Amino acid sequence: MAQTRVLFVCLGNICRSPLAEGAARKLVRQRVLEKHFEFDSAATAGYHEGETYDPRVDAVLRKYNALFPHTARQIRDADYRSYHWILGMDEENLLDLQRHAPADASARLELVTKPWGGGRITDPYYQDDWACEQTYIELEDLIGRWLDIWLQANAP
Ligand code: 4NP
Repeated sequence: MAQTRVLFVCLGNICRSPLAEGAARKLVRQRVLEKHFEFDSAATAGYHEGETYDPRVDAVLRKYNALFPHTARQIRDADYRSYHWILGMDEENLLDLQRHAPADASARLELVTKPWGGGRITDPYYQDDWACEQTYIELEDLIGRWLDIWLQANAP
């Protein structure tokens, strides 16, 4: 099976996209599929470059056994060539990704909510602690569905 490389993207890379990356790493570990997938996450904006995730995200990832080492970074041109899928959390992320894609981009740009038929992952940054956990639960469900899609596409 070919390796599938996926980059999760949000505005700051300290809340939603690290929650998505943590959920993806955990689900792949549970299914013993680590060698078939590679995940990372990035921001459309550079505000939090070099920071780790928001402390509320740390607490949620810990609770769900999904912690991983993380340093926030902004997306770069090479990402559009090296990842198969780049998944944004809302329409603004997707528009930003489309607008900044280099001419030779090969990644597929989609909303992470596509398996639900679309919609946005609301930013928990401006909300209470529970919002962060709720966001993780939503993303874990979505990524489980994406894994089924990617595995089906790779079936011999
Ligand atoms: P994220 O949340 O895009 O889910 O990482 C945000 C984090 C920080 C900011 C905005 C959104 N900010 O404006 O600093």
